[in-house]
Amino acid sequence: MQPQTITVLGAGYVGLTTAALLAHANYKVYVVEPNQERLDVIKTGKSFFYEQGLDPVIKLALEAGSLIPTDSYKESVPESDVVFSCVGTPDNPDGSSNLTYVFAAAEETAKHAKKGVIYVQKSTVPVGTGKQIEALFSKLNASIDYVSNPEFLREGTALYDTLFFDRVVVGGDNRKAVDAILDIYMDLEQFRDHIAHIARIPTGSRGDQYIATTLNSAELIKVTANAFLALKISFANSIAKLADKADADVVEVMDAVGADNRIGRAFLDTGRGYGGGCFPKDVSGLISSALEHGVDLEIMQAAQSLNQSMPGYIVDKLQDAVGSLADKKIAVLGLSFKAGTSDVRKSPGVAIANILQQNGATVVTYDPQAHEEAAPDLLPDIHQVNSIEAAIDGADVTVITTEWEDILAYSARDFARHMQGSVLLDAVNKYDAKDASAAGLQYIGVGRSA
Ligand code: UDX
Repeated sequence: MQPQTITVLGAGYVGLTTAALLAHANYKVYVVEPNQERLDVIKTGKSFFYEQGLDPVIKLALEAGSLIPTDSYKESVPESDVVFSCVGTPDNPDGSSNLTYVFAAAEETAKHAKKGVIYVQKSTVPVGTGKQIEALFSKLNASIDYVSNPEFLREGTALYDTLFFDRVVVGGDNRKAVDAILDIYMDLEQFRDHIAHIARIPTGSRGDQYIATTLNSAELIKVTANAFLALKISFANSIAKLADKADADVVEVMDAVGADNRIGRAFLDTGRGYGGGCFPKDVSGLISSALEHGVDLEIMQAAQSLNQSMPGYIVDKLQDAVGSLADKKIAVLGLSFKAGTSDVRKSPGVAIANILQQNGATVVTYDPQAHEEAAPDLLPDIHQVNSIEAAIDGADVTVITTEWEDILAYSARDFARHMQGSVLLDAVNKYDAKDASAAGLQYIGVGRSA
């Protein structure tokens, strides 16, 4: 029989998106969030983070009664046929994944679940974790089928990625359980145009592949996909450093290299490197889980250290161009780790702002969404302002650190008019260099010839 009631554990990007979408596909969905502040926001029909299209989807599902936010396993799990685990996996200081919440959620579910429940792991965990949780379930005498369902959604396009997917992967040792979860996604596919309409997001099918694998393969697929994308970015950024020295333009290089279908242009955008809640964590998690299996993933260590070098490299470039940064007023535009989200985890924009400040500059930052979230990560003397004009007013240098549309669309003439100096450092390689030069600005990219 088709599952009817679903519990989603954790209302982060993955959990809240999954819960809200399934609540529009004829399922009754509980979303369990222990943080009261967050829960209160969700109960008002909103997300506590910014994600395009998510609020109307939450609101309608709440009104229909198909989405039920709660902090209680007792209220949700006993009634559920399927439990999705989407709890956080922060990284330990040594780079390995902290699985405390993952195991706690599994154990708590085992206490309350009815017989034959399917437990779906969406949190990113090192390969082998599923087997450990299966062992835990059997130790607790819980009759639960465990499957891994790696998540590929990107922040900022979370709804689109979930509805119009390349592939859905479900791995497990019980084929019936695997098929039951694939069926849920097939149900969701039936409603995707309708939901996209509510969310006002683009539609358009992509690969739509449904892939069943073993448990361990599914766990490895997730981290491997992210590690490969991170590798592509770091590879492109290492070529950007070479282009700087060799007087070539890395954007031209990547456009042409990416035009080879075997390579592809995606994830070859160069600049300040990758941040966010996934790539940095997944890469270090993969390195340390491989080491536990006696495998040294040197290639990923290189990708990680290249990435960590990028904010400092960009500030060094600026110093080469303008000399000492002491007493320079510098506008940093963009604090979120990419456009379309308020997330500032491991954000290169925040790192660059802090390094500039440590070098004696007076730093003023602007971001259309991420002010509140960035505040705790910024050094105390960094000012945050609410408009591009307020940030660049009288600035000696402007640094673009996130590819927000309003920043990229801001006219070069207005930059020139408001700034005191003329240096525009484009750390995302996306501003129109010709416009900048025509307006009399000194455009500096990362790996772009003068
Ligand atoms: C990523 C994966 O894409 C997604 O499949 C997975 O589920 C979660 O991790 P996300 O972290 O939301 O998603 O963002 P993504 O769009 O992949 O970007 C990650 C970082 O890489 C950002 O800082 C982005 O600016 C940077 N990036 C991306 C580049 O520097 N260059 C690129 O070409 C692409």
